[in-house]
Amino acid sequence: MCGIVGHVGSEQAAPILLDGLRRLEYRGYDSAGVAIHTDGGELKVVRAVGKLRNLEAQLNASPLPGTVGIGHTRWATHGRPSEVNAHPHVAGPIVVVHNGIIENHLALRARLEERGAKIASDTDTELVAHLVHFKVKDGLDLESAVRAALRELHGAYAIAVLSKNEPDRIVVAKSSSPLVLGLGDGATYCGSDIPALLPYTRRMVFLEDGDMAVLTREDASVTRIDTGEKVERAEKHIDWSSVMAEKAGFKHFMLKEIHEQPRAIEDTLRGRLDRENADVHGHEIGLSDADAKAIQRVYLLACGTSHHAAMTGRYYLEQIAKIPTTVELASEFRGRDPIIGPGDLVVAVSQSGETIDTLMAAREAKEKGAKVLAIANVIGSAIPRLADAAFYTHAGPEIGVASTKCFSAQLANLLMLSIWLGRRRGTLDTNGARELVEGLAKLPVQMRDVVIGTRQLVANLAKRYRDARDVLFLGRGLSFPIALEGALKLKEISYVHAEGYAAGEMKHGPIALIDSAVPVIVLMPKDRWYDKTLSNLQEAMAREGQVIGIATEGDEAAQRLTQDVIEIPAVLEALTPFLTVLPLQLYAYYVADFKGTDVDQPRNLAKTVTVE
Ligand code: G6P
Repeated sequence: MCGIVGHVGSEQAAPILLDGLRRLEYRGYDSAGVAIHTDGGELKVVRAVGKLRNLEAQLNASPLPGTVGIGHTRWATHGRPSEVNAHPHVAGPIVVVHNGIIENHLALRARLEERGAKIASDTDTELVAHLVHFKVKDGLDLESAVRAALRELHGAYAIAVLSKNEPDRIVVAKSSSPLVLGLGDGATYCGSDIPALLPYTRRMVFLEDGDMAVLTREDASVTRIDTGEKVERAEKHIDWSSVMAEKAGFKHFMLKEIHEQPRAIEDTLRGRLDRENADVHGHEIGLSDADAKAIQRVYLLACGTSHHAAMTGRYYLEQIAKIPTTVELASEFRGRDPIIGPGDLVVAVSQSGETIDTLMAAREAKEKGAKVLAIANVIGSAIPRLADAAFYTHAGPEIGVASTKCFSAQLANLLMLSIWLGRRRGTLDTNGARELVEGLAKLPVQMRDVVIGTRQLVANLAKRYRDARDVLFLGRGLSFPIALEGALKLKEISYVHAEGYAAGEMKHGPIALIDSAVPVIVLMPKDRWYDKTLSNLQEAMAREGQVIGIATEGDEAAQRLTQDVIEIPAVLEALTPFLTVLPLQLYAYYVADFKGTDVDQPRNLAKTVTVE
């Protein structure tokens, strides 16, 4: 989730760019840079790894006086965090910053190298700079060159481009990644998000996917990338405070991140689903087809919410790839001298990629000869660095301590891993794979519908039960880890005692807790466990529990037998966790909000746990 800022005006650009980037810090970044048309007629680039203060120190040491420039904070996706991979990227007179992923980067790189481009970084962005440069060499002006280049790109991007030859303008474009324009007095701005521009102007223009614009001191003229046709995009007045704007108008980052899950899944699936061949592109998994066939056992290692994703992943690996799979809490795996070695695949699942227990457990497995695959959200973090390969989630930075969108993205990667293995091991036929791949592709829309469609009902229920002393979450099979996750979310942020339980285990203990004061949230999608879950639900009702069912649309038994039903659409069994978890995240959120706790930074908890 990189940040972009641009300014063309009469004030000095460097301080405006640094200030804008600082206002985008919440998006997360690992390096930063600016490019400025200097008063001396040069186009200069400065980049630095790490925090913005490193970039600022360089700019203080050698100032770049000039009034037109672009800036960028990079959250690595292609290539590790380093100065050479930091933006802006340069090719001849062209300078580019970019947010997003260019999907056809492999083919593009080969084509550019054939034409003699010398590509210095591992990034997809530098390729865009070279492509535009070739178009300029072919005689096009900056705007036409960018347009021609964009027509050859697939993927999600927001870009801003400068040319040494046209120092009075910035050309920007957007497809799926955010970009907003700001209109000032004798100045025009661009930014990845509203907060970057708020101190300078409140007159904003929101580009649509497929738009590009030329920014000059006078105005911003918007055209369509494909047709070149001029379009008018209405100017909007933004009266948010800076803090509201960072959260995109949501009250808390957690609520924003819950709503961002469809996008997180889209970004995580992008370029990986092979819909034509009902398969998954698995080059990031780091195994050959022969390796895939030879795996004896998979160990999934993780902590916290990632452990619940791993538990769900076990179902995928066993059902789809038919590989015996063990899920371990990383802290319990260590020091037990586990029997593990060559032939075993260890998958370390971690949002931060830095959790010390997961890191140490993965190290131990590696020392014993197992292959280690990381599933992490932070590129270049410790666990991917240690692992033999990294299959990243692309959820973007998660700010709320309680993980939501990273959890969903982890499920997506675990399912894609299982599909890839299942195809290679001959345990998943084309039809089965097609159903899963197509089902995954449809998920973002269904997730959006569930979040939007259930949030009011969930908020009402949270209000009704906010003072409950205990809450029980029950589920079987694939819904069991989701029940655990629902309980963990509620504990983490609302400090209410909650238990997630395998529904079948209820009569072995937690049933003693149930009375009319205890809400029981039962995950009961129509799956192979449904009938049995229904009996457990009746046991809870018989003890006067307040039962809320998370059930498939049109489930009459759920309507009849529970106090309240939250409906999710009918999807393949494997995909139910992606949908059932959403109302549980919302429930935890609203209870915490009604109680007035610190939702984004709950007491005693840390986002990244680097102590044992
Ligand atoms: C902390 C966080 C949790 C997270 C867990 C594992 O406890 O508060 O949200 O699930 O660490 O973190 P990881 O980065 O390894 O997924």
